[in-house]
Amino acid sequence: MTPEIVSSVKSSGNGNLNNAFNLKKDEFYTRYEDVEKEVLRYRSYLEGKTVFCNCDDPFESAFFRFFVANFAKLKLAKLVSTCRAEPSLLASEGNERAFKAVVTVVPCSSPVRPNSPSDIEALLAMPGNSLSPLTGDGDFRSAECEALLSEADVVATNPPFSLFRDYIRQLDKHGKKFIVLGNMNAVTTREIFPLFRENRVWYGESIRSGDRSFHVPDSYPLNAAGCGIDEDGRRFIRVKGVRWFTNIDASKRTERLELTRFYSPDEYPTYENYDAIDVARTKDIPVDYDGLMGVPITFLDKYNSDQFDIVMLANGNARSSVPATTLKEVGYSPHPDDKGGVGIINGRRVYARIIVRRKPL
Ligand SMILES: C[S@@+](CC[C@H](N)C(=O)[O-])C[C@H]1O[C@@H](n2cnc3c(N)ncnc32)[C@H](O)[C@@H]1O
Repeated sequence: MTPEIVSSVKSSGNGNLNNAFNLKKDEFYTRYEDVEKEVLRYRSYLEGKTVFCNCDDPFESAFFRFFVANFAKLKLAKLVSTCRAEPSLLASEGNERAFKAVVTVVPCSSPVRPNSPSDIEALLAMPGNSLSPLTGDGDFRSAECEALLSEADVVATNPPFSLFRDYIRQLDKHGKKFIVLGNMNAVTTREIFPLFRENRVWYGESIRSGDRSFHVPDSYPLNAAGCGIDEDGRRFIRVKGVRWFTNIDASKRTERLELTRFYSPDEYPTYENYDAIDVARTKDIPVDYDGLMGVPITFLDKYNSDQFDIVMLANGNARSSVPATTLKEVGYSPHPDDKGGVGIINGRRVYARIIVRRKPL
């Protein structure tokens, strides 16, 4: 935020100031190369499909640019892009207009290039393509954007982190295929964990560790850890724990985790409140243990549904979010030191764990 905006927002009260910070929080722009690395893996699936980017300003989004630049290569039928118009920081200014961009034709001589400033306006002015105002503010939950969603085959975007649960819930309700970027913390929510357990959502392939850079607006403060300015003069922030969430099949899902350790009661303590052993690192899952095991959340980076069954998430909300039948299946018994359902060893609470079981060979 510029100093002018800060001072005028401040003078209009804390509500607006909080609103301004909340708006800024969601303005992380995905880099073209990150979109490319993941989306090209679904190339065969995308043929003939209508792709919807519903949190994407076509003039800013690398998703939109990627799908335009690869429209012919992917043999897409149609690309649609909408985004919420950013509400003004000042209540008195009113809202920006929201637009819908539609692309059905991308000539070989397209004015849109992967990694250089592109003439999106010229592309959208071509016959077969359009840029038209939406009636509402472009919120992905609005009736008109939901109608566009129901017409699409595949959704690809990086939705606002703060609305990720609502976002995935809507995709699930519409039964849509998707390739979306999010934070792995979302997995532990009661909306998203069940989708992983039921093998209706899994991580995409291209990000399984480390952090990723995102472009941020010029007004973004550079004092946060991991912020900087790249060689093109654009501000970026590095974010940890980012993952692709998808329900389209790709090869890694079927790779088996190679296990080398053997079970011993000394090395694998049993929880006091679950009939399961604690495995502190995914690679230490014992090859010869057939019972229930509590593994770290990062297990999902290696999860193969042919090799393991996910039973439940043993975190601080387990008692309220897991069905009583499942709690019975895992031998859960309330413990005086356990507030909500997290595993207890020697009277101490451990980190949130996913309770899994190996599938018989
Ligand atoms: C994390 S940014 C990512 C932008 C873009 N998809 C990308 O990957 O570069 C999320 C975007 O969603 C927009 N947004 C926020 N709330 C929204 C909503 N309710 N509906 C649609 N878009 C929204 C924000 O303005 C922001 O541009």
